[in-house]
Amino acid sequence: EQVTLSLGQIEKGGYPHFMIKEIMDQPACMMDCMRGRINVEASNIVLSAIIDNKDKLLSARRFIIVACGTSWHAGLIGKHLIESFCRIPVEVEYASEFRYRNPVVSEDDVVIAISQSGETADTLAAVELAKQKGAFIYGICNAIGASIPRATHTGSYIHVGPEIGVASTKAFTGQVAVLTMLALTLAREKGTIDEDTFRTVLKEFSRIPEQMQQVLALNDKIAELSKIFTYAHNFIYLGRGYSYPVALEGALKLKEISYIHAEGYPAAEMKHGPIALIDAEMPVVVLATKNRLYEKVLSNVQEIKARKGRVIALITEGDTVMPGIADFCIELPDLPECLTPLISTLPLQLLAYHIAVCKGLDVDQPRNLAKSVTVE
Ligand code: AGP
Repeated sequence: EQVTLSLGQIEKGGYPHFMIKEIMDQPACMMDCMRGRINVEASNIVLSAIIDNKDKLLSARRFIIVACGTSWHAGLIGKHLIESFCRIPVEVEYASEFRYRNPVVSEDDVVIAISQSGETADTLAAVELAKQKGAFIYGICNAIGASIPRATHTGSYIHVGPEIGVASTKAFTGQVAVLTMLALTLAREKGTIDEDTFRTVLKEFSRIPEQMQQVLALNDKIAELSKIFTYAHNFIYLGRGYSYPVALEGALKLKEISYIHAEGYPAAEMKHGPIALIDAEMPVVVLATKNRLYEKVLSNVQEIKARKGRVIALITEGDTVMPGIADFCIELPDLPECLTPLISTLPLQLLAYHIAVCKGLDVDQPRNLAKSVTVE
């Protein structure tokens, strides 16, 4: 049987949109990002930027992460990773706020600039400002040789290949992967991580591509789920700890391509206001994987259900409690908490994608948005 593909379809690898191709490419992108950098047998991570600038990075008084949009969400995960493994304070700033605030930055600070395109005007300006103030600048970018990597002192590319869809997907997981390797490497150099934890996390990290594959196999199930929620007017996304930035990212994806109003919140903030929004018309996506705060998230879900909200819960496989409470559950593999964002983001990308497709929207080029924001 002969299959005919147009040039556009070939570029999209046979998929109807770049976004779904880029979501599905993530296991391969992860391998490209890790290639030559991790060695599980030798229990080692090699990031040349760290080897070349060890003193500067190890003597940093604090890290300041500057970024916009999805890259800023990756930065929030970076803060958790670096603070918990390296015990160095980390601030995460919107580049657009940082650049106009006359921020306190000194020569003891390391600024990490995260940008897929490497061309975002605010992030580039934040880099230039921090450089003038004497900080050491580390870039985490995708586009090779773009303005931001050229303006930084050092950096690590995420190596996930060109991202065409306006909604960032594989770049996010690539950024989080590089931040994970960065945090683990610095922690080992500083002696703030024990060998067992390092080995365990590295081993599990190396298995992320296969875990991603397992989650992407849920695509059809998520496509079905999307049909139920296509005409929702609002969504709330909740998460705690490492999952809070994932909630923000899930909400951003939905806003961008489905034009549905969505808000991400730390789950415990619910009772400080947003709970007033809950009724039968309000779908709530809850990041509820098994971790130290699971019981607390479970009680948030009970509060939502008591107000007739509809809950889509992302849970750890084998959880028998949440399926009895939530309306829909999506099962994820069991992983160390610090690695869950690399996996839990994927169903949220798929949910946003399928809702937009159901609404017949232009997924790859949503209205009012540009792939890289090179003007203010
Ligand atoms: C993500 O889906 C967005 N389109 C957007 O928020 C993007 O992440 C932001 O503009 C930053 O872009 P950059 O990573 O290229 O700097």
